[in-house]
Amino acid sequence: MGSASGQYFNQNPEVRSRQRTIDMVLPDLTATLATDNGVFSADHLDGGTRYLLTNAPTPRDGLENVLDLGCGYGAIARTLAQRCPEAHVWAVDVNERALKLATQNLSGLSASVMSPDDVPDDVLFDLIWSNPPIRVGKPALHKLLTTWLDRLAPDGTAVLVVQKHLGADSLTKWLNGQGWATERLSSQRGFRLLEVQSR
Ligand SMILES: C[S@@+](CC[C@H](N)C(=O)[O-])C[C@H]1O[C@@H](n2cnc3c(N)ncnc32)[C@H](O)[C@@H]1O
Repeated sequence: MGSASGQYFNQNPEVRSRQRTIDMVLPDLTATLATDNGVFSADHLDGGTRYLLTNAPTPRDGLENVLDLGCGYGAIARTLAQRCPEAHVWAVDVNERALKLATQNLSGLSASVMSPDDVPDDVLFDLIWSNPPIRVGKPALHKLLTTWLDRLAPDGTAVLVVQKHLGADSLTKWLNGQGWATERLSSQRGFRLLEVQSR
């Protein structure tokens, strides 16, 4: 995973496929998820993702569309599907192997898994949960967040998990500066949970 060609956010990972499963055990749900080489945190639920899934505020009732931005194999989307049973879950990623896995992991649920460009323009999101791809670099990250945070519904919110040492505090400052009111909900073991309001 060290070289540029082996990054988890490649569109088509070159590393040979070896599909397997992991068990995601959260206080309110357990799921066996398909994973593979070439996707983010293939062998265990990522610590940041676990932090988001155990500490994000319980979604309110009546949400219509919720988004897992940068879904990987779909741990966040799968959890959203269970916690927001009335909502339609959207899961987007650029990594095609991740999209295949997320499709498997969301099978039978009210969910759409697709490339970012394929999401219909008229869909707005009541809730976005994301462990965003910080390692793409600041300009690409800012562009990605601008694109998707501007698709929050008027009273929509986003919850992001970001590591402190990867710039959580400067990202908070940038978000506030761009007009998205952002506050730190909590912080633990180097992870920050940020809540972002639509602008
Ligand atoms: C930190 S990983 C989180 C993966 C997954 N949500 C999890 O928690 O295990 C970030 C994900 O963002 C994806 N990604 C990178 N650039 C993206 C983009 N422009 N649009 C959507 N997803 C992107 C990566 O491929 C990767 O799967």
